[in-house]
Amino acid sequence: MAIERIRVRARSGSYDVLCGKGVLARAPRELSHLGKHTKVFLLSSPHVWKHWDKKLRRTFGRDAKVILFDDREAAKNLSTVGNVCRQLVRAGADRQAVLVAIGGGVVGDVAGFVAASYLRGVSLVHVPTTLVAQVDSSIGGKTGVNLREGKNLVGAFYPPRLVLSDPRFLETLPNRDYRSGLYEVIKYGAIGDHALFVYLEKNLEKLLRRDAQSLAWIIARCARAKARVVSLDERESGLREVLNFGHTFAHAIETVTRYRKYLHGEAVAWGMIVAAALSEKVAVLEPAGVARIVRLVLRVGSLPRLPQVSAAKLISAMRADKKSRGGRLRFVLARGIGTVVAGKEIPDSVVGAVWAGLREDTLLNWPHDTQPLTR
Ligand SMILES: NC(=O)c1ccc[n+]([C@@H]2O[C@H](COP(=O)([O-])OP(=O)(O)OC[C@H]3O[C@@H](n4cnc5c(N)ncnc54)[C@H](O)[C@@H]3O)[C@@H](O)[C@H]2O)c1
Ligand SMILES: [Zn+2]
Repeated sequence: MAIERIRVRARSGSYDVLCGKGVLARAPRELSHLGKHTKVFLLSSPHVWKHWDKKLRRTFGRDAKVILFDDREAAKNLSTVGNVCRQLVRAGADRQAVLVAIGGGVVGDVAGFVAASYLRGVSLVHVPTTLVAQVDSSIGGKTGVNLREGKNLVGAFYPPRLVLSDPRFLETLPNRDYRSGLYEVIKYGAIGDHALFVYLEKNLEKLLRRDAQSLAWIIARCARAKARVVSLDERESGLREVLNFGHTFAHAIETVTRYRKYLHGEAVAWGMIVAAALSEKVAVLEPAGVARIVRLVLRVGSLPRLPQVSAAKLISAMRADKKSRGGRLRFVLARGIGTVVAGKEIPDSVVGAVWAGLREDTLLNWPHDTQPLTR
């Protein structure tokens, strides 16, 4: 498949997302088109670096300075941001520096926030290396870190100057992280792309085997969808909210488990199941639609069990989320496969009832527990 160039419009300037096998090799040329810069800093994590060290050094040259940091979700915080900024000062990064974030969503969100705030803003390039990052987090300019009190509560909108998305990186991605990305892909089908949803229903096994052609197809399709949505609504004043399908609940279970039990995509998987159940409860989606969403999500693989917490604790975590307004819980609900309605306010009692039902439901007997996160 040829390399595809997708344009994203942003207030502070438009940028391109280049998708396709071998795109990394284009980095030096593409970087030179961004204008004059002093030094290139490669911001990544030891996990990513150990697989791609040689290739990245060859691509970016000896002069590029490497800064590695812990990319566990539990380390996606202000302390990591501070450490990276201090390393940049010590390495002499000035306002014409370019930061290249090479990694998954955590590296991208942390490095993005560093780029937004270091010397009040330096150039940022994303090189996403996970499926989540290639289809979602590297596009759209959201950056930020977690607080104990909640997910992504400190951050900035800071679009990159360029995104280089090479599916070759996925060859070294652990299975669980790969599957985690497939849930975000299902999300794109559920929120606005019926044909993609059907494609996933038909080709999931191929994708689980990481079939290169199918993978290239879904990555470009999701990247185009994300680019379209964020170009129309960069600051999430309307349309962009649809991307939060499954995320109100996802962020709450990530928070109550202190970011240690679920990969982000796994939390989104549970979140989509809950959103589908809520959609049925308030009569916007029929049971057949709910079953299709739940079935596809569960076919991807086993999920870590839901946390043993009360509805009250869960609801209070949801209330602290950015998506709640004036303390009222808001959800993106499914109306059909490929159509959603955003900003639906749902009473606590309904959310509590769905949560209670879900814990007793037969659903819980399908997935099995996976190992707790050790990284
Ligand atoms: N900014 C946004 O718009 C946005 C959108 C979606 C998700 N996110 C955020 O992204 C994060 C999740 O990102 P993720 O799913 O990419 O997970 P991740 O960044 O935690 O990466 C998963 C794991 O894979 C490793 N890894 C990454 N690339 C690898 C490769 N090519 N080979 C081997 N190992 C590799 C990482 O070191 C890490 O251990 C969450 O914090 C979420 O909130 C942000
Ligand atoms: Zn997400």
